[in-house]
Amino acid sequence: MKLLHSMALLTLTTTLLMATPGDEQEKHIQRTVDLGKSSATLLLQTLGKNMKANMKSGGVMNALNFCSQEAFTLTDKVNTQLEKGVEVKRISLKYRNPANAPQGNEIKILNSFENLKNENVILPKFLVEYVDASTYKYYQPIVIDNAVCLKCHGNVSENPELQKAIAEKYPMDKATGYKMNDVRGAVVVTVKH
Ligand code: HEC
Repeated sequence: MKLLHSMALLTLTTTLLMATPGDEQEKHIQRTVDLGKSSATLLLQTLGKNMKANMKSGGVMNALNFCSQEAFTLTDKVNTQLEKGVEVKRISLKYRNPANAPQGNEIKILNSFENLKNENVILPKFLVEYVDASTYKYYQPIVIDNAVCLKCHGNVSENPELQKAIAEKYPMDKATGYKMNDVRGAVVVTVKH
């Protein structure tokens, strides 16, 4: 099993590094990292700030309504503020909103974060995937680093009212049962150069 993990990681790393070398590519990578970091921060801060404000003003049920009604709209809004050719989103293997389901290579990359975490490796702050000569993707792991996340992604059966509301809004919800320091998913920023 360990060997399988390492092989999967090696394959992934090779894919990530396989792109042709050159100044042009160096520039694209640097620009992807710069835009990736700033876009991911903008999205996480926007969602986090609004979620906490709603929690403070009306408790967890209010914050849940906010997240389910506004998380997507706010993500769209952040996207309109970004440079042309840049798009940000959140993905998770155990997603709540099916629109946040990872696609293609995104699944492998999320699995590699999980595998690294399980091997007690300190996660990288980000990874860059080469998609094609003009498209790169920036991945930033999202780790449960705040107990507030567990209110809606931990053992939600402790709050039957909340559990019921989540089940009603998201009948296929997979995003519970998390503990502190678990990998919750990633922010993905696609950059077209
Ligand atoms: C008040 C409840 C609530 C809290 C607290 C909360 N979330 Fe969520 N979270 C949600 C809901 C609802 C969604 C689905 C949003 C949507 O429909 O796009 C979600 C979606 C997500 C997603 C997108 C993937 C998916 O499952 O659809 C990530 C990543 C995420 N949350 C991480 C976190 C982190 C990290 C924290 C702590 C900082 C946190 N959440 C706190 C309710 C919450």
